[in-house]
Amino acid sequence: MEFRYKKIVFLTGAGISAESGVRTFRDTDGLWENHRVEDVASPQGFKRNPALVWKFYSLRRLQASEVQPNKAHVALADALHSLEQASVRALLITQNVDTLHERAFGALPNKNFIDIHGTLSRSRCTKCNKIFSDRWAYFNEEQQPAERHADHLWSNPSLTNLLSMPRRNPQGIPLSPCCSDLLRPDIVWFGERPHGVENAIEQLTSCDLFVSIGTSGNVYPAAGFAAVARKAGAHTVSINLEPTENSAAFHEHLHGLATEKVPDFLKKI
Ligand code: APR
Repeated sequence: MEFRYKKIVFLTGAGISAESGVRTFRDTDGLWENHRVEDVASPQGFKRNPALVWKFYSLRRLQASEVQPNKAHVALADALHSLEQASVRALLITQNVDTLHERAFGALPNKNFIDIHGTLSRSRCTKCNKIFSDRWAYFNEEQQPAERHADHLWSNPSLTNLLSMPRRNPQGIPLSPCCSDLLRPDIVWFGERPHGVENAIEQLTSCDLFVSIGTSGNVYPAAGFAAVARKAGAHTVSINLEPTENSAAFHEHLHGLATEKVPDFLKKI
């Protein structure tokens, strides 16, 4: 297969998963499942009430496990395979933590994928930052300790450091096998540094096509990626239901559902 571009960067946000049944952020009045964002998605919130934070992420793990990648995730995964075979360099950067890209792809090689806001399928030690593949739901809806598996959260058999049910402290908070200190979700919370930004910027400044899918362009640094790529000479395309905050950074706008626009667009590159 022949492609018009030599190096492509894709950026995705909550909109690509909306048709799988995952709720986007701007739809929820700043509340996530009726919690204030700062209570469940900040280091301060975790320090104040780790049981509440683990309840929130336990339920999100179970919800994510119940939804499936949609046609847009699958088309993107197929495109990444084809691009790789044709020696076109392609990078997928996602702001989503829902694991749907990884599951559509099977096993996304690290060199092609950056989850800049982390993922629901990993936890990390608060002391030494060691990462574990983790699909346990540690709390139930009533915030009581529970032991359930979010069964479909990953489908990749080659994951390392798979966590069997860890020890817990008296409040039921899981403890890391490495340091016996608190485990936390490997999610980038407000005020924390996103993963892989240097790598992302390096790729953005040398790509010739940048495609943004289903993101409102509100949250930095991702909201600034289109401008970086455009300044470096790339053609920039936005696929979204509606105009975004950073619309001016795009040469081309494709408004509509991700499950329709993404497969259509990918056929043309
Ligand atoms: N197809 C295409 N676009 C869609 C669809 C769809 N089916 N459904 C919704 N959208 C668009 C919306 O119009 C909106 O512009 O997707 C965008 C989703 O925007 P947000 O909810 O703001 O999500 P996102 O941009 O990913 O948020 C960025 O903000 O709260 C933080 O860390 C969180 O990663 C998140 C970041």
